[in-house]
Amino acid sequence: MSSVLIPTLNWFDMHLNIVYYRFCLPYVLPNELVLVVTNMTQESLKADIKALLKERKAVLLAHNYMRDEVQEIADITGDSLALSIEAAKTDAEVIVFCGVHFMAESASILAPEKTVLLPRLDAGCPMADMVSVEALKEMKSKLPGVPVVTYVNSSAAVKAESDICCTSANAVKVVQSMSEMEIIFAPDRNLGSYIARFTDKKFHLWEGYCPTHERLRPEVVKELKAANPDAPFVCHPECNPKVVELADHVCSTTGMYDYCKKSSAKRFIIGTEAGILWRLKRENPDKEFILASPALICPNMKLTSLEDVLEALQQMKPVVKVPEEIRIPAKRALDRMLAIPRD
Ligand code: 13P
Ligand code: SF4
Repeated sequence: MSSVLIPTLNWFDMHLNIVYYRFCLPYVLPNELVLVVTNMTQESLKADIKALLKERKAVLLAHNYMRDEVQEIADITGDSLALSIEAAKTDAEVIVFCGVHFMAESASILAPEKTVLLPRLDAGCPMADMVSVEALKEMKSKLPGVPVVTYVNSSAAVKAESDICCTSANAVKVVQSMSEMEIIFAPDRNLGSYIARFTDKKFHLWEGYCPTHERLRPEVVKELKAANPDAPFVCHPECNPKVVELADHVCSTTGMYDYCKKSSAKRFIIGTEAGILWRLKRENPDKEFILASPALICPNMKLTSLEDVLEALQQMKPVVKVPEEIRIPAKRALDRMLAIPRD
């Protein structure tokens, strides 16, 4: 039956949204057929994206939390640090950044000569929005001489007001590299309090947090651990400190791939955004991954679809470009970070 439908739908699927197939088609076609048609749509979209990437001399970077199908088509997937490094060194003319706004800004800061496309301009980061330049300046004025370490999950303008940046993959080393005994750490209070335990320095923590990771509650983790005693609990340092306390291993998203691959355990409880599961399962087909909570979904990271990527490449927009007066000081803070190796 599908062979009859394929030629007709092949012509259509370039133009129709996948939502149509998922939500309207079930009323006219059986479920199995909807699946076939949806897959055909995805394959056709992927082929078009690949062709345009080549034509535009573009590279597609995707964060580890992106939708499965977006990660699948990416040239490079990675954590915030890996993607920044890649943006800085790529010789592509265009960077299609599948992530959230601050990540595309970092790419624009590090590679100003390249066109940086963010397929969904509305993909922001609520934690990054929890710190403004004005509020940071006010804190700095109250603590004269105290350097600012800023998590990359922040706007370019906030980075420009900072001494050095860090990601979850290098935060401990960044803080240890500083000679001062006091630091302002913004905006993630959870990451800040996690790394504070590796140094004697005094931390002035900004009261920001990731709403997605904060949703994971310690009671839920305790229950899961009791029910699955053979499964190590691996979590991201953006989780609440009460959750981090329960972890067998705390690391960035890329750190989780390494840990789960090398570990002799066969099952893992995962405390970070659900998008990480796609590659974990693909790289470890013999292992089982239990997402610690169904609430671990970042709505912003889930916005970008294959249709959005194709449209961005066709129209060469939306472009993210950081103005020079912000870019230069922000780059100083990012460059200082990039000079330090991963944890
Ligand atoms: P990493 O991939 O750098 O661990 O970042 C986590 C995150 O929340 C990005 O928004
Ligand atoms: Fe921001 Fe959290 Fe989403 Fe990362 S997972 S983009 S920190 S809200």
